[in-house]
Amino acid sequence: MPGRVLTAPTGAPHATLLGLGAYRPRRVVPNAEVVEAIDSSDEWVQQRSGIKERRFASPDETVQMMAVAASRQALEQAGVAAAEIDCVVVATVSHLVQTPAVAALVAHELGSQGAAFDLSAACAGFCHGVALAADMVRGGSARHVLVVGVERLSDITDPTDRGTAFIFADGAGAVVVGPGEADGVGPVVWGSDGARADLIRSREDWRDVLASESPRMPHLVMQGNEVFRWAAFTMAGVASEALERAGLTPDDLDLFVPHQANMRITDAMARAMKLPAHVRIARDVAEQGNTSAASVPLALDRLVRDGDARSGDTALLVAFGAGLAYAAQVVTVP
Ligand SMILES: CC(C)(COP(=O)(O)OP(=O)(O)OC[C@H]1O[C@@H](n2cnc3c(N)ncnc32)[C@H](O)[C@@H]1OP(=O)(O)O)[C@@H](O)C(=O)NCCC(=O)NCCS
Repeated sequence: MPGRVLTAPTGAPHATLLGLGAYRPRRVVPNAEVVEAIDSSDEWVQQRSGIKERRFASPDETVQMMAVAASRQALEQAGVAAAEIDCVVVATVSHLVQTPAVAALVAHELGSQGAAFDLSAACAGFCHGVALAADMVRGGSARHVLVVGVERLSDITDPTDRGTAFIFADGAGAVVVGPGEADGVGPVVWGSDGARADLIRSREDWRDVLASESPRMPHLVMQGNEVFRWAAFTMAGVASEALERAGLTPDDLDLFVPHQANMRITDAMARAMKLPAHVRIARDVAEQGNTSAASVPLALDRLVRDGDARSGDTALLVAFGAGLAYAAQVVTVP
């Protein structure tokens, strides 16, 4: 028997990005500082990953502090007060307190009493957050949503691990998603492949850590070669599908902003997608390393700061990582 008819929520007809913000930790760490512990060299790291330097957070640059700093910039550009934020979504895998969600602390520090929760989809977390936020705005459960990607991966990376020590880094990026005159967030293409969850993961679970005789941080471990192949050969298809579902072709794009995992993965995707020469490609990984959930907004911010991206540009985002989780969508630069 059908129940009572409920009033359904109604949202804004269109959702768009209203503001963008970033926080890069103060301390610049060149390859020279990380290669000794892994018997590597600046040349090897640059040639295999394109990374020249990265930023590591200092003790005062906590996950919360970096998230708040990036968010303030995003709110300012959006012209939206913190009190108008109905929901704060923080994508991260490196907030080392199990509960409560850092999103609640970020919301409080900013001055929002909106809903607040963390999202765990590793390097794809920010693009997951943008997809959810746009659906919330269009669906009516929030008018303005703050989406943050933030990581302190230096806390959970083993500096002696040859496969990860030179890759992972720290930082934060944020966007405000809200109503717009036209849609500025296209349909998301997303998914996961849990059968290959072993390829990037924490080395062990906290109970095993505590049961061991010499407890140590359950650092990230990665089968780099396998991850490389998956990302380089599969993610171009995911990105192309997001473009198609937005009703666009590569000629319509101004910017390609893939997750900053490795310059060679970015190059392989750009080749596979046959991106025209006019499309500017984010290459923030050279100076920022791989900052997981923070990498896409940081890379977009770099393009804007360098004058390679302008408000109104059309950008294709694609992010992928542990899970294996991935998400892609087209956005209009705020
Ligand atoms: C990590 C990565 C750069 C390693 O490059 P690779 O070409 O796959 O390297 P391999 O592991 O196959 O090792 C190749 C050789 O380099 C050596 N090597 C591995 N790490 C090294 C290091 N840090 N420094 C110097 N040599 C190293 C290996 O011992 C091996 O030597 P051999 O040929 O004599 O046996 C690469 O796999 C990668 O970037 N993967 C994707 C990682 C990524 O983006 N992850 C994030 C996704 S979210």
